[in-house]
Amino acid sequence: MKILVIGSGGREHALCWKLAQSAGVEVYACPGNPGMARVATCMPGKPLEAAISIGADLTVVGPEVPLVAGLVDEFRARGMRIVGPDANAAQLEGSKIFAKHFFTQSRIPTAAYVTVEDATQARMALGRFNYPVVLKADGLAAGKGVVIAQNAAEAEAALATLQGKLVIEEFLRGEEISFIALCDGKTAIPLAATQDHKAAFDGDLGPNTGGMGAYCDASLLTEAQTQNIMETVILPTVRAMNFTGFLYAGLMMTAEGPKVLEFNVRLGDPETQPLMHRMESDFVPALVAAAEGNLAGVTLEWKKGPSVCVVLASGGYPGAYETGKEIRGIQMAETRGATVFHAGTKLHRGMVETAGGRVLGVTAGGADLREAIAKAYEAARCIQFEGMHYRTDIGHKGLARKATI
Ligand code: AMP
Ligand code: GLY
Repeated sequence: MKILVIGSGGREHALCWKLAQSAGVEVYACPGNPGMARVATCMPGKPLEAAISIGADLTVVGPEVPLVAGLVDEFRARGMRIVGPDANAAQLEGSKIFAKHFFTQSRIPTAAYVTVEDATQARMALGRFNYPVVLKADGLAAGKGVVIAQNAAEAEAALATLQGKLVIEEFLRGEEISFIALCDGKTAIPLAATQDHKAAFDGDLGPNTGGMGAYCDASLLTEAQTQNIMETVILPTVRAMNFTGFLYAGLMMTAEGPKVLEFNVRLGDPETQPLMHRMESDFVPALVAAAEGNLAGVTLEWKKGPSVCVVLASGGYPGAYETGKEIRGIQMAETRGATVFHAGTKLHRGMVETAGGRVLGVTAGGADLREAIAKAYEAARCIQFEGMHYRTDIGHKGLARKATI
């Protein structure tokens, strides 16, 4: 069976790495990266052409941009099997206003909000909220479309950077969880819960990034909480939108229960790295079932111990950064028992160099969270490139939570 993975980041490397462990599966990636090339055949060119040329039996889409642009609709029109939502359902990520209206209509718990057409309307609406207040640009913004304003001056400054229509919403307090379910258009099965670390620096300080590390641990949610989120958030969405693919609910666990901060219509990055690392089951039958509308009764098993992924980023990221820095120590890190997923890397004269903001995701498991964290950091310390920076507190919220149980 030939499976094509669309994308070139750490998320897609982790997916290819997992799929390559399934018997009888040949993995292809479009366009892929040097890490993916170790477990998959990388294909240049357009996704649809790549899928046709290899005769893909199944395609899995990583990033949101092709989903919002309707790649899944094109595949389905040709009768080709693909895991991902159609362009209509992808608006749940593509437009924050579409998503908020959908939450209201479907009675999905979320922050109170208003939508505004421009800065003048925004100034009038802001009077109805307490500070801090959250301002969100409507369209895809690669993680840069959200501002949390602490006071009126910060809100005014945000209006200068966020153009066009906006969502203004109540600031929610609590712990953030990434809840991802695999959906087949009618039903869905949960993946294990994960926690991302979005801020650039330790202690959740600094600007927001795409994610500086994540861990996957059974202690994140109880079985009852998982069931509740499936019933109040995921299943109503799957039924209303005939949602196929990965539905990722960014949740705030508030004192009043889980509330949706945002929907993504894909796997998270870096959440996928610890997810694939910790998944015990063969993932291929579940992906085929999702593409065919046959997920009912399918379950996924997870290793008992947690997995932790530490992202190594380029100097300056998430601001401006240089690329083309030689990377050393990947093999050494892997001899310490970690798996190093490539994100922004390229091959140059036989050497692996940096080619993006988030460069590598060093991922390790352990008998408990403390051990998994220690193993991931021991391996991360083997790797060097000029300007490299990473957070040193990935998973620490999990340790603190365990200490209070
Ligand atoms: P989003 O792209 O909507 O997930 O927003 C990016 C980040 O901003 C989230 O991961 C949260 O950390 C934060 N955020 C977004 N909305 C809210 C909210 N209503 N209350 C508190 N924090 C929020
Ligand atoms: N790690 C957050 C995201 O994938 O959107």
